Amino acid sequence: MTVLPTRIDPAGPEYAEHCAAMLAKLAELDAEHAKALAGGGPKYVERHRKRGKLTARERIELLVDPDSPFLELSPLAAWGSEFPVGAALVTGIGVIEGVECVITANDPTVRGGASNPWTLRKALRANEVALGNRLPLVNLVESGGADLPSQKEIFIPGGALFRDLTRLSAAGIPTVAVVFGNSTAGGAYVPGMSDHTVLVKERAKVFLGGPPLVKMATGEEADDESLGGAEMHARTSGLADHFAVDEVDAVRLARRIVARLDHRKPGPGPDRFAEPPKYAEEELLGIVPGDLKVPFDPREVIARLVDGSDFDEFKPLYGSSLCTGWARLHGYPVGVLANAQGVLFSAESQKAAQFIQLANQRNTPLLFLHNTTGYMVGKDYEQGGIIKHGAMMINAVANSTVPHLSVLMGASYGAGHYGMCGRAYEPRFLFSWPSAKSAVMGPQQLAGVLSIVARQSAAAKGQPYDEDADAAIRAMVEQQIEAESLPVFLSGRLYDDGVIDPRDTRTVLGLCLSAIHNAPVEGARGYGVFRL
Ligand code: COA
Repeated sequence: MTVLPTRIDPAGPEYAEHCAAMLAKLAELDAEHAKALAGGGPKYVERHRKRGKLTARERIELLVDPDSPFLELSPLAAWGSEFPVGAALVTGIGVIEGVECVITANDPTVRGGASNPWTLRKALRANEVALGNRLPLVNLVESGGADLPSQKEIFIPGGALFRDLTRLSAAGIPTVAVVFGNSTAGGAYVPGMSDHTVLVKERAKVFLGGPPLVKMATGEEADDESLGGAEMHARTSGLADHFAVDEVDAVRLARRIVARLDHRKPGPGPDRFAEPPKYAEEELLGIVPGDLKVPFDPREVIARLVDGSDFDEFKPLYGSSLCTGWARLHGYPVGVLANAQGVLFSAESQKAAQFIQLANQRNTPLLFLHNTTGYMVGKDYEQGGIIKHGAMMINAVANSTVPHLSVLMGASYGAGHYGMCGRAYEPRFLFSWPSAKSAVMGPQQLAGVLSIVARQSAAAKGQPYDEDADAAIRAMVEQQIEAESLPVFLSGRLYDDGVIDPRDTRTVLGLCLSAIHNAPVEGARGYGVFRL
């Protein structure tokens, strides 16, 4: 074993300072998560309960195995938008009858559970997780359909929801719809396109057009039950496979459906004797400095994430601002790429490309730990080929087919975000720490570049340059870019799968690795042309 040493002193002032900065950010994050948990607020939650209904989260809690973890995804969706935090939908990975499933639940306390543009993005991300990892998908449905005032943003792209259901089914990935209430118009296609359906007695309403619409269209008089009630669908139309007498019965039936899927993971399974890290996960609070300009050693993070803190570094003396190496995490093998000094140079890029190819040859998943300001700029570096070397790394990341996991610990700027498998490079999962920041470049640099460009433009036109206005604009731009770089903002836009407490990282990554292993893990045998 190659156990990583540590230089962290939990009794020292530096550790205390870093911890205080992280805990302050975590307290702010708690307040934002509380908004998602509150759903539509006390008035609507109370009304929902008075109707004898369970909330979205209670339905999930009943559905999953007792005391099993639920890895919630995108809880901050819609943060910073005009819509409530959480986007009227709860999504995540939970274990039902021992089977890891993607579970989604409409939150009917938020505007009748209607889907706004962020609900749609969140639902599509959940479908992507189900498809990429071959996880059965269970939808707990009760929704007012499209959020009508924002229909222009969702009607056309929203067709993908139903497309995904049938593509999952075609790929042999089971889909289950449990209908607790309204599921009308387009929503009717959720049970309509699912492999298995459960409808709740006197609650489910599944029709293309409700009584008023039918009256308008054909003059026919009809009621909810005869148009789309559970009993009608179970006895007459055949849309309901299972007739549930109440919500609890519906959840019981959904669990039986999953139990009968005979779902098997293809393996390889984890090493059952995985050791915990040698150092306390609690200490992950005290590693990242409050000021991201101060570098930190990612080996201190790796030492608190991987089994037995056992890490075999690859090329430690070459391209040392990127740390690469092999480890196991909750018994699964992983290759780790972690930024060590922030900047990526040519050597780091080439080392990354080689390391990624090795992981693909061995079918080993990759973990990217971000703290990068991007690829190095400057005359010497351009002449040394930084573009083609960065391109080499991005080529390897883009064409690598082993599963990737990304964690934004600190900075994730510029093309460095891409090379380290940012969101557009489709890591299976991407989580941020509250200390993370991501943007095309740092706020000061961006404001400075804008100022230089404006100054040059004024000079070219022979106009005087207003220095006071420049200073004011710079300050404003810096503030705006800083706000747009923060993890809650980016999480609100679904650019990650959630902002997590650093102390939970090993657990979250372990759950992800377990979920990932529902699909075969196979490395790439071909890449784009490497420019040498
Ligand atoms: N778009 C926008 N807002 C909607 C909505 C929708 N599709 N459905 C409900 N809402 C809003 C309501 O206006 C109401 O807002 P308010 O409290 O500020 O007045 C809030 O959500 C709660 O709706 P309410 O009707 O009081 O809840 P309910 O639980 O009694 O009924 C529904 C829920 C979904 C059955 C009912 O609201 C409904 O029929 N909505 C329209 C469904 C529809 O036709 N959708 C289009 C399908 S594509």
